[in-house]
Amino acid sequence: MTPTFDLLIRNASIIDGTGAPRRPGDIGISGDRIAAIGDLSAATARQTIDLGGRVAAPGFIDAHTHDDRALLSSPDMTPKVSQGVTTVITGNCGISLAPMPRPVPQPVAPPLNLLDGDGQWFRFPDFASYVKALQDQPAATNCALLVGHTTLRVVTMSDLKRPANEDETARMRELVDQALTAGAIGVSTGLFYDTAVAATTEEVIEVCRPLGEHGGLYCTHMRDEADRIIDSLEETFRIGRETGSQVIISHHKLVGQANYGRSGETLELIEKRMGEQRICLDCYPYTAGSTILSADRAATATRVLVSWSQTLPQYAGRDLADIARELGVSEDEAIERLNPAGAIYFRMDEGDVQRILRFGPTMIGSDGLPHDTAPHPRLWGAFPRVLGHYSRFLGLFPMEVAVHKMTGLTAKNFGLQDRGELRVGAFADLTLFDPETVGEAATYEKPMVAAHGIDTVIVNGQVVWHGGKGTGARPGRVLTHEAA
Ligand code: ZN
Ligand code: CU
Repeated sequence: MTPTFDLLIRNASIIDGTGAPRRPGDIGISGDRIAAIGDLSAATARQTIDLGGRVAAPGFIDAHTHDDRALLSSPDMTPKVSQGVTTVITGNCGISLAPMPRPVPQPVAPPLNLLDGDGQWFRFPDFASYVKALQDQPAATNCALLVGHTTLRVVTMSDLKRPANEDETARMRELVDQALTAGAIGVSTGLFYDTAVAATTEEVIEVCRPLGEHGGLYCTHMRDEADRIIDSLEETFRIGRETGSQVIISHHKLVGQANYGRSGETLELIEKRMGEQRICLDCYPYTAGSTILSADRAATATRVLVSWSQTLPQYAGRDLADIARELGVSEDEAIERLNPAGAIYFRMDEGDVQRILRFGPTMIGSDGLPHDTAPHPRLWGAFPRVLGHYSRFLGLFPMEVAVHKMTGLTAKNFGLQDRGELRVGAFADLTLFDPETVGEAATYEKPMVAAHGIDTVIVNGQVVWHGGKGTGARPGRVLTHEAA
């Protein structure tokens, strides 16, 4: 007799990703899809996992990542699969690995150097060749790809300190069209950074024109997440309206003590505008951010940790204040000696983080930086922290809602068909976890540690993580966008 299923998950507490209350049941998987859900006690299978009442949820979708290169250079994707992530959205904050039709200018301009400091991975002349590389050598997780406006500026412009001229804008628009045709789901910008701050709103609109026709997304690390955040939100909404695209506000936060508490104001505006156009947002569950090291950012932080340094790598993981003392110089001088470098900045309010997380439409994204020497713990811990610390421990929302924010909601917003929900016919991306113990193990002191309570992770029907380690399976696919 041939078994009914390839994989059978018995005695699960099913949290299906829609936000609905959990229910007991079994899940049968055939090939890469969910074939049955319910009482399957009579069924047989090639492989059976008995959950003993623990949770089966859709695999988590990381709404905001910088995994463009990690998918190729570390295809086991351990920081992600170990926390239950089965799909990553790459190319955020304006920086994508592709396209790079000419040798990347040296030294690699920050923040592009977050993807690769020496630039050897900027080797894909067009977006299609990057997609092909991901398909030829799949990773453990699925991915959906954004093309970065800053990357396109580096490709087309010799001087990033000015707005693009008409020719450069036209060239970038053509590259956006090519990327969307090759499978990118949208464009990201990082208007906050030196490499793109000179871009006018009109430049962004003209570069993003093809989004309307392709049904692509506009994701943005906004120009200002501090004093002028309302202006930045208005700019984002305008770009969405004028290009006819759905916007995603990346890692929504308020930076600097003067802006603590203002999430009440920003969320009210976002909610109001949601009635007029399609707006989404994501958030990571920490009061510290992380990006390249700079003096102006350090000046608004209560504490700064160095996450990597090209010139003084031995200081990764240390406090900037201690490094300055040890070197016998000012913090500004220490920053100059450490650069190019990355840092973790404590400069957000816990109340804002909680209010933004609790906001119904907020998705979870890690914003993890996979190539840092001493990364922000969000790289390994964002998702279990939402489930453990914020849902179970603080009771910010039921675990069903936490799961929805990392699965069904995200799949719907990004147009990822048949992902993010446990139902018959959906792709078999699942995370099996213990709701009593799930939580992050990664800390600022020890950031590279697998989460607690994540038992088994399944991507397209194949087990990629089990018993505290990766299986070596690499069933990940490049996902495209179905316009909603
Ligand atoms: Zn960003
Ligand atoms: Cu980012």
